[in-house]
Amino acid sequence: MRIAVILGSTRPGRRSEGVAQWVVNVANARTDASFDLIDLKEVNLPLLDEPVPAIFGEYAHAHTREWASLIAPYDGFVFVAPEYNHSFSAVLKNALDYLYAEWNDKAAGFVSLGGHGGLRAVEQLRLVLAELKVATVRTQVAFGRGDLQREPQQQHEELNAMLDELVAWRPRCGRCERSPPNGAASSRCRPWRPASRRSPGRTRIPSRRSRPCRRPSATGSAAP
Ligand SMILES: Cc1cc2nc3c(=O)[nH]c(=O)nc-3n(C[C@H](O)[C@H](O)[C@H](O)COP(=O)(O)O)c2cc1C
Repeated sequence: MRIAVILGSTRPGRRSEGVAQWVVNVANARTDASFDLIDLKEVNLPLLDEPVPAIFGEYAHAHTREWASLIAPYDGFVFVAPEYNHSFSAVLKNALDYLYAEWNDKAAGFVSLGGHGGLRAVEQLRLVLAELKVATVRTQVAFGRGDLQREPQQQHEELNAMLDELVAWRPRCGRCERSPPNGAASSRCRPWRPASRRSPGRTRIPSRRSRPCRRPSATGSAAP
C-alpha cells in the first residue's frame, strides 16, 4: 500500500514541515505500507485555472496532468493540516479541487496543527473529502499550542493508531471491477474507475499494478 503524506502549508516558517517530516519518519518504521512526502510548496500549483470541473476528467493544463499522475498511484493519504481561521489552508483546498477521480475510493487520515490542535481544520477537511469520495479514519493526531516543544509521545502513539486504521483500508475487493459472488477474496484486483471516466477522449489515469485482494484481519488491520 502506498500512502502520500501531503504537507498542507506553504507559509514561510511553517511548523507543518517539521511535523510532516516527523510523520514520514515514524511511518517509515512500519512494514505494512510505504510513505512519501508530498510538499504542496514544491508542487506549486497556480490557483485553479482549469476551465472544466475536475469531475469530468478533462485536464487542459500540463501542471494538472502532472499533479494527477503524482496523486493517482497512491492508495491513501495523510493530510498534515494547519488550522487557518477555523478551516484548513487555501493551498490544500486548491490542490484538492484540481482533481477528482485520482482521489476517489481511497482513504485518509489527519495530522493537524493549531492553537487548539487544528481540530476544526480537520472537521472541515472531512466534509470536503466526502465529496471527493475519500473515506476518512476516526483517529487523528493533533498538535496544539506548546506541543511542538515537547517530545510527541502521545502523538506518536496516536499516529500509529491512525495509520493502523488507514492501512486497514488498503485496496481490496470493494475496489475491484467485479467482486466474487460469494464474498471471497479474488486472486487479482484491477483498479476501479467510475463510469464517467471510462468513455474515450478523457484523461487517462495511470493504472496501478494489479494486486492480490486480502480481507482485513479480525482486529481491523490487514497484512501487507
Ligand atoms: C492565517 C492564520 C490563521 C490562523 N487561524 C487559526 C485558528 O483559527 N485557530 C487556531 O487554533 N490557530 C490558528 N492559526 C495558528 C496556526 O494553526 C498555527 O500557527 C500553525 O502552526 C500553522 O501551521 P504552519 O506553521 O504550518 O503554517 C492561524 C495561523 C495563521 C497563519
